[in-house]
Amino acid sequence: MTEPALDFVIAALEKIRESSDHSPRASRTMLRRLQLADFVAVSLPAAAELRTGGRQTSASPSGPRLQGASNKAQLLEPIRERVCACKKCAHLASSRTQTVFGVGNPDADLMFIGEAPGVDEDQQGEPFVGRAGQLLTKIIKAMNFARGDVYIANVLKCRPDTPSGTFGNRPPTPVEMQTCRPYLVEQIEIIQPKVLVALGAVAVEGLLGMRGTMRELRGRWHAYNGIPLMITYHPAYLLRNQAPSEKRKVWEDMLQVLERLEQPITERQRNYFL
Ligand code: URA
Ligand code: SF4
Repeated sequence: MTEPALDFVIAALEKIRESSDHSPRASRTMLRRLQLADFVAVSLPAAAELRTGGRQTSASPSGPRLQGASNKAQLLEPIRERVCACKKCAHLASSRTQTVFGVGNPDADLMFIGEAPGVDEDQQGEPFVGRAGQLLTKIIKAMNFARGDVYIANVLKCRPDTPSGTFGNRPPTPVEMQTCRPYLVEQIEIIQPKVLVALGAVAVEGLLGMRGTMRELRGRWHAYNGIPLMITYHPAYLLRNQAPSEKRKVWEDMLQVLERLEQPITERQRNYFL
């Protein structure tokens, strides 16, 4: 944003403050974005001067470096820090090994949303690294992406606790998901992917607050805040139900995603069975 544009925004906000009973409100993310926009605007002339070999009297050393860096990556950092320190669910904050924020490319066109970290994710601090995660990685690769090309996050950032001495994971409760959801909302707001994929009915419930069966939800386009949303089976379901028909359904859903992203689809991909 150029400086006159920023002045214009500030003047408009001041006018709203003076003429209305309610002070203007801006989300933390928007304020951070404005701050960064200002910083980029200030550093741009310096960068231009460096490129043209002009006088460098006003060149700030951080200017040109910032140009190449991803704004979105910087915007995600303060959220990651808040998640890291979060104790909104006291029982999860005390049982977790660590929080699991999200992984991948902050500039991704495609974002996958799961439900919550399991035991492997809790240990490694990264979403989808266990058995279900390996299957998700395989699906991503079959789509001709690398794991680092897309962004992967969960509705819940802490592993749902289980009684000590027991094995396995439990699904997050609706209350836990509603408590943690704002972090995911902020992640999506910053990343602004072209397509979202929700994995399983629990992730859908966490994201949309809507309960439904996968039979009625999957395989067609929905929307979250104007972003096209594809709903498909959770990879853990495919591990439980090995029928080729179920794998094929997930792959059909991913072909729809590739089409929406205007990615070329090979004949081999069309005929592929996971
Ligand atoms: N299942 C999920 O929903 N998310 C993970 O990160 C791992 C397994
Ligand atoms: Fe905080 Fe989310 Fe963990 Fe609850 S699950 S403590 S809201 S980070």
